[in-house]
Amino acid sequence: MTRSKTVITFGTYDLFHIGHLNVLHRAAALGGRLVVGVSSDALNFSKKAAFPVFSQADRMAIIRAIRVVDEVFLEESLEQKGDYIRAHHADVLVMGDDWAGKFDMFRSLCEVVYLPRTEGISTTAIKQGLERERIVQA
Ligand code: CTP
Repeated sequence: MTRSKTVITFGTYDLFHIGHLNVLHRAAALGGRLVVGVSSDALNFSKKAAFPVFSQADRMAIIRAIRVVDEVFLEESLEQKGDYIRAHHADVLVMGDDWAGKFDMFRSLCEVVYLPRTEGISTTAIKQGLERERIVQA
């Protein structure tokens, strides 16, 4: 019997929005099991010098509640992607196409697929929109 494919993907998923939902559905459609690495608060702080709006515990709880997600874990280091792929026996790594080409080194471990992002929405844009509103109302 052939084992169905395990798909793995990573992200912050702060202020969960339709772009996040779309990519999770598309990733899930590539295999039989979807594992999601949610980046830790500390990892986000080290990348962006700011913490996400929602805590890692809340972001993980939201992703865990998505029907197509089978397992959620905390991504604590960008350097450990290969270890996470191996530990979760992933057959496919999915990343948004804003990362196109950047994860090709993992092709020795698994299939690497870059999916098109949903246009016109991002956590950064939502935050900027809220900030503009706050300034206008002040
Ligand atoms: N994603 C997507 N379409 C969007 C936004 C995000 O497909 N419009 C995907 C990303 O490619 C990634 C996952 O959702 O695979 C998590 O992305 P994340 O960086 O957490 O979300 P963004 O909304 O892009 O956040 P930011 O603006 O802070 O980068």
